[in-house]
Amino acid sequence: MGKGFFRTYLAGLMAALFVLAGLGHLPAAEKQKTVDEKVKKFLGNMKYQWRDLNVPEEDGKILFEIVSQNGYRRALEVGTSTGHSAIWIAWALSQTGGKLTTIEIDEGRHRQALANFREAGLDGYIDARLADAHRLAEELPGPFDFVFLDADKEYYLNYARALVPKIEPGGCLTAHNVDDPGPFRQRGYYGSTAEYYRYMRSLAGFETRIHPQSRYGIAVSYKKK
Ligand SMILES: C[S@@+](CC[C@H](N)C(=O)[O-])C[C@H]1O[C@@H](n2cnc3c(N)ncnc32)[C@H](O)[C@@H]1O
Repeated sequence: MGKGFFRTYLAGLMAALFVLAGLGHLPAAEKQKTVDEKVKKFLGNMKYQWRDLNVPEEDGKILFEIVSQNGYRRALEVGTSTGHSAIWIAWALSQTGGKLTTIEIDEGRHRQALANFREAGLDGYIDARLADAHRLAEELPGPFDFVFLDADKEYYLNYARALVPKIEPGGCLTAHNVDDPGPFRQRGYYGSTAEYYRYMRSLAGFETRIHPQSRYGIAVSYKKK
């Protein structure tokens, strides 16, 4: 082998190392662009494929906005299913520098959620637990600045009692499928969550309302600073 070959080989090697090193030091904006594109592609492909009690797209967008506009970074979700809402939340967290812990009791859904998180390129932002949230919501130490409840509705009040003390001032507790028992927004078909809503409204340290654009009644409770 002559010197020419050796020089070409060395130049190729140097170029490869240069590219590899460069990837590790991509500017933050470039990295975020890569994440955004992958998530958008995944959500586009999945648009009509969510069949496991997942939130509708409109409600996913609302969760994204709450996390992103408030710069939240320590998020918890109760009720992963196959991961639609978690993907919206984790996408926002990829921009704020945060991480989501999400809990699911059903093994098949948990496994599918893990595959979805990988495909969406968000697995690095999500700690997905296969567990009974009745126990884990008590055990996780927090603090959290964002919580989304979307598991067994009749247990919402208990989740709230366990999690409210772990929410930071300025943080937010959200819950899906909540019935506002007040006169202006009588939904009437989510009876067991009305109790949760009344409880959250009774807490002087929180401002609670149903998000006006939510499709299936997202209750939003901000903890006062
Ligand atoms: C409405 S689905 C969640 C949908 C999900 N947030 C989404 O948008 O993709 C409710 C999920 O909560 C789970 N679940 C019910 N009880 C639970 C419990 N005690 N602990 C953890 N998960 C539970 C169910 O298995 C179900 O997958």
